[in-house]
Amino acid sequence: MEKNFDVIVIGGGPGGYVCAIRSAQLGLKTACIESRGTLGGTCLNVGCIPSKSLLNLSDNYRKAKKDFSEQGIEISDLKLNIKKMMLSKDKSVQILTKGVEFLFKKNKVTYIKGKGEISSPNGVTVSEGEKKTTYNSKNIVIATGSQSTSLPGLKIDEKNIVSSTGALSLKEVPKELIVIGGGYIGLEMGSVWSRLGSKVTVLEYLDHITPGMDREISNEFQKILKKQGINFKLNNKVNSVKIDKNKIVIDYTNNKTSENENVSCDKVLVSVGRKPYTDGLNLKKVGIKSDIKGRIEVNNKLQTSVENIYAIGDVIKGPMLAHKAEEEGIAVAEILAGQAGHVNYDVIPGVIYTSPEVATVGKTEEQLKKLNLNYKVGKFPFLANSRAKVNNETDGFVKVLADSKTDKVLGVHIIGPHCGDMIAEMALAMEFGASAEDIARTCHAHPTHTEAIKEAALAVDKRSIHF
Ligand code: NAI
Repeated sequence: MEKNFDVIVIGGGPGGYVCAIRSAQLGLKTACIESRGTLGGTCLNVGCIPSKSLLNLSDNYRKAKKDFSEQGIEISDLKLNIKKMMLSKDKSVQILTKGVEFLFKKNKVTYIKGKGEISSPNGVTVSEGEKKTTYNSKNIVIATGSQSTSLPGLKIDEKNIVSSTGALSLKEVPKELIVIGGGYIGLEMGSVWSRLGSKVTVLEYLDHITPGMDREISNEFQKILKKQGINFKLNNKVNSVKIDKNKIVIDYTNNKTSENENVSCDKVLVSVGRKPYTDGLNLKKVGIKSDIKGRIEVNNKLQTSVENIYAIGDVIKGPMLAHKAEEEGIAVAEILAGQAGHVNYDVIPGVIYTSPEVATVGKTEEQLKKLNLNYKVGKFPFLANSRAKVNNETDGFVKVLADSKTDKVLGVHIIGPHCGDMIAEMALAMEFGASAEDIARTCHAHPTHTEAIKEAALAVDKRSIHF
């Protein structure tokens, strides 16, 4: 096998595999090292893809159970076959990970299986079992992603106390599931199991869920999830989780009263964040600097403190999102090929794939206040959107934030049906520096959910038509 490359990418997740494919497309001799046994990283194997599969399947089940009969679709013997549902999810994962392998072949990326260690600024040693092989490269890209964090002293066994990985493969529906942490993972996986029949309680340290999200959207989101049956205990810091006979007991302190309380359940999902995964990379020895949170430090060209070694995705600062990693992967490939690779960090959308979805891009109202920027707000509820109304999915609204003087769109925050897809229009508008008026004057097809965006843009100047 070839041992000398222009680029070696360590990690075959969305950041790494996209970087490898783009590098090869640009004529660079490229290899990608991956230890998992399948390509696609956390996202395809145990993250975005399997969770979206289960979110879709569980939503179908919920609709069949709760909504269909009112709509004249009567099912007399509805049953949940969790084993089959899990197989369907696994099949989706398999198809997609194999798809990446095919793309590697098509683009002539060398796929090296094993765990990579940076042995020198131009060398990566790959271990596969006992076998060690060293490969040489002009450039190295670190794309090793992140791993779940836990609480001090808490061991995740992936059976009773699970991270997102275990929560994606439970063999039966837990009677009571406690979710520690009301962020992206907790709310997506909490929704899945709640729809399938678990009594779900979210224990959250802060006084609100989804930290960093526009607060009005976050409050509405919590209200909607509560209506769907998810219970919230906010302002509570979890101290310990213990297995006591057949029950799991969670001890927590109420931040307001400082009183200790406890609650028991049969499964716990620990979703208190993720941290960069750089174990065994040998960073210190080769002189690569990391910050206090363990994130590899990079300059605006995504170069680490060692000139020819780059880092992208969850191992560096910024939101831990697959599409952010992909953009960085492309930027690095282009920089290495002598082009002007660049990522616009002001326009990275974020989506929570619950039902309804939550989607956001740009600045939140809280951020604009903090920056002392003058802004106008336009809002439009899905209750007044005809398509949402006929589909019986009227929860949520669109919120457009625009500069008071220039009318430039500064942020768009949506909670509502299909907004995970609709946010792309807003990201594009922001990339083009659109004003709220530009969006308001763009003809949107009727009847579609996207008309709610147009109406919210019209509402920025108080001229919405349907509300
Ligand atoms: P997160 O950072 O989104 O939320 C963690 C939550 O746990 C916070 O609200 C925090 O206040 C709370 N918390 C921390 N310590 C606690 C304690 N002792 N007691 C109670 N609450 C506590 O982290 P999460 O949900 O684990 O997600 C990790 C990463 O994965 C995120 O960065 C997210 O961007 C990414 N992700 C993205 C998805 C998407 O794009 N749809 C889906 C899933 C994950």
